[in-house]
Amino acid sequence: MNTTIPIIDLVRQYHDIQGEIDAAIHQCLESGHFILGAGVAQFEQQLAAYCNIPHAVGVASGTDALLLALVALDIGNGDEVITTPFTFVASANTILHAGAKPVFVDIDPRTFNIDPNQIEAAITPHTKAIMPVHLYGQMANMSAICDIAQRYGLRVIEDSAQAIGASFAGQPVGSYGDAATLSFFPTKNLGAYGDGGAIITKDAALAKKVDLLRKHGASRKYYHEILGYNSRLDALQAHILGVKLQHLADWTAARRTVAERYNTLFANSVVTPPWVDERAYHVYHQYTICVPERRDELAAHLAKSGVQSMVYYPVPLPQQPLFASDTKVYPVTDQVCQSVLSLPCFPELTEGEQAKIAGLVLEFYR
Ligand SMILES: Cc1ncc(COP(=O)(O)O)c(C=O)c1O
Repeated sequence: MNTTIPIIDLVRQYHDIQGEIDAAIHQCLESGHFILGAGVAQFEQQLAAYCNIPHAVGVASGTDALLLALVALDIGNGDEVITTPFTFVASANTILHAGAKPVFVDIDPRTFNIDPNQIEAAITPHTKAIMPVHLYGQMANMSAICDIAQRYGLRVIEDSAQAIGASFAGQPVGSYGDAATLSFFPTKNLGAYGDGGAIITKDAALAKKVDLLRKHGASRKYYHEILGYNSRLDALQAHILGVKLQHLADWTAARRTVAERYNTLFANSVVTPPWVDERAYHVYHQYTICVPERRDELAAHLAKSGVQSMVYYPVPLPQQPLFASDTKVYPVTDQVCQSVLSLPCFPELTEGEQAKIAGLVLEFYR
């Protein structure tokens, strides 16, 4: 089957900025520096400025960003970290990799983010941190989460892989927690042409520790202070990301326009468009609808007409074999996994394409 409208079209994006990207790649190749170095340092400064957070440290992926943030905050054996069961596996498997235990708390059915009202009941003497995930580009209720964290003396790591540029109550991603993590996976709002990630933080000492951790714990070459990792952002990706960062504000605005158009097309229909908290600035990494029934048949119906859609995520994390020891129930997550569908949402999507997509969805339920 031919996909005429993909969930995201990275080739269209490349063609729009081909001259700038090709020049940046060429510049990196001519520099002869490919691991860390001036290109990465320059991108980190630009990224920190964009995010309005003092420090940014580039690492090999969004997954590594989470792991290094956990390790840098001394979270490990015997500790528990509260997170959401409705997210990509990396949010929780990095907690396991750090040696700690993920403790899941069900989500708010409107935002799909961790429900702050259920967090306190999950806190034990072993709880060390809360890791909210800003799913689909909308931040979790960070005012409520940070209030709990403060009362119980917990760390906060914001998994912001999907939410660069988002804010809550006027404060950006990374300004609430001890650290926030970003992913530059190619399909993310700021995507590399390969893997990449970053940690942003207000805490200079934490940034310094993450810098050590990403390069085998070495403060200078071959002098190793702590047990570290090989997790560096490569210079080629930093050059590419530096170009794309210049466009990110426009792309985010375009995503928000796409979302508004969908909202209008789906108004007064069986489809539930994304609910946005009035305090949230949503960056629409995904435009995710809830449908009343036959979600998978709808996806097949769209695919038949060349429209790609995706289910983020079909299985609650506690139901994955990896987390099988967790026998608690998460009714909201269970329900939402059956009813969500993400539609194509990217800056270059045209009004005509959106009309076609919405028309196909609505005709399916007619
Ligand atoms: C919520 C969330 N956390 C973490 C990650 C991991 O990022 P990466 O794929 O860059 O390792 C992703 C990316 O898919 C994600 O969506």
